[in-house]
Amino acid sequence: MSEVWKALADHHEATKARSILSLFNAPGRFADFSAEADGVLLDYSKTNLDETARALLLELADLTGVAEKRDAMFRGEKINTTEGRAVLHTALRSAQSGGIHVDGADVLGEIKAMRARMVAFCAAVRSGDIAATDGSAFTDIVNIGIGGSDLGPAMATRALAPYHDGPRIHFVSNVDGAHTADTLVRLDPARTLLIIASKSFTTSETMANAATARIWLDAALGAAASMHVAAVTNAVGPALATGIDRDRIFDIQDWVGGRYSIWGSVGLPLMLAIGPENFQEFLSGGALMDQHFRDAPPDRNLPILLALVGIWHNNICLYPTRAILPYDQRLARLPAYLQQLDMESNGKRVTSDGDAMTRQTGPVVWGEAGTNGQHAFFQLLHQGTAVVPAEFLIAAEGHEPALTRHHALLKANCLAQSQALMCGRDHPEPHRRFPGNRPSVTIAYPKLTPFALGQLIALYEHRVFVEGAIWGVNSFDQWGVELGKELARSMLPLIEGDNSIAAEKMDGSTQGLIGKLGKD
Ligand code: F6P
Repeated sequence: MSEVWKALADHHEATKARSILSLFNAPGRFADFSAEADGVLLDYSKTNLDETARALLLELADLTGVAEKRDAMFRGEKINTTEGRAVLHTALRSAQSGGIHVDGADVLGEIKAMRARMVAFCAAVRSGDIAATDGSAFTDIVNIGIGGSDLGPAMATRALAPYHDGPRIHFVSNVDGAHTADTLVRLDPARTLLIIASKSFTTSETMANAATARIWLDAALGAAASMHVAAVTNAVGPALATGIDRDRIFDIQDWVGGRYSIWGSVGLPLMLAIGPENFQEFLSGGALMDQHFRDAPPDRNLPILLALVGIWHNNICLYPTRAILPYDQRLARLPAYLQQLDMESNGKRVTSDGDAMTRQTGPVVWGEAGTNGQHAFFQLLHQGTAVVPAEFLIAAEGHEPALTRHHALLKANCLAQSQALMCGRDHPEPHRRFPGNRPSVTIAYPKLTPFALGQLIALYEHRVFVEGAIWGVNSFDQWGVELGKELARSMLPLIEGDNSIAAEKMDGSTQGLIGKLGKD
């Protein structure tokens, strides 16, 4: 395997001075270096990959056992070894009727039962059959969660705004009281339903925000307040202990990772907003991408190709970041969503066997919706010293039939940016010169429907999976978030003025900052 890595590095060395544009001298470059899956197009022709590099990358995927690892995931094997868990978010959107078992339990049967409860609950809330305590329909839903219990539903609910015909949905995640306060101040507790979303039901931010929101409800509704609360969790006992009705607790299965949980009960706010049928479309889009990932040959396989482009830029060209640039305002939260998906999954420094990594793993993922980003950081993309591989996302059609000119402007800007990055422009004055030769990929889809969103999210999930499989890391644990949580727990009493805690045992900077910030 090290031979392939070396061959890739040598090939890069030999070709790095070549202009990407020159690759288009060969006829059919666009057709050869793009691939399509059920309407989603991945164009990677504006990269410095040529046939040799692609063949070597495909060999790398083969030698690192990507296909075997993929099949093990779909079968429900416990590939999350450090937590002893199966990884079965794909089962949540599967159209299969049986055959996946974890510890003897019928996974698809469990999903069917859970989905039926979600659908019944959503239909009843949306119709007003499950009503507020004064008999009126709920007008507002507040989802209280963080990380995977927030980013997925928040991103998708915004993405699918044209399909909203249910109650208004709000998201509270940050433990900063400003987030809860600014959200609740606009709402009427008598018409508001809280969803406490936490797989563990221990996450301190969510527990604090839920407690505050519950006080707000209690003050207005008294004993009836519990009828305005639902929970989404794997910890049913602790949720029941807070007085939430069992009928309103929706299970997150052990084999669903937080950042992969939008497809299951964490999708409850999305289903409330867009309705069960549109939610099913979202699932079907994801399922079709799963099928493509399992069946398409590697050289036509979108998740594999997108991952290989990522590996090329990260490990071979040594570009340490990637920019996610959705030219789709409703995907404004996609970069944040992908930050968790990608960086929590692949921000790892040891392999699954516990060996130290010898090459870079997950790149820094960042981005912003186009065209806003153009007027902020694109200067650096075009003329900065760092090369940032860019990933553009654009729909052929918008949702605003009366505003087609806006969509034409959006497309023109998107295409102009990737063209400018690649082609550059010479100029006698150095500050006006664009070096060009900066790589990008473009992902194009027909329209941002629930189905297309499902395809796109599953595409990125599998891309992260393939990159992790090539590096040999466990993409499904997140031990790196634990230390900060633990230290915050022991810091809190000190901040709250408990003088029995020895501040002097802390490092000098932390002591100094406590002194400066004061105790609450
Ligand atoms: O701190 C990281 C994390 O564990 C994420 O992986 C997860 O999505 C998030 O916290 C929220 O966790 P929970 O759903 O248990 O509140």
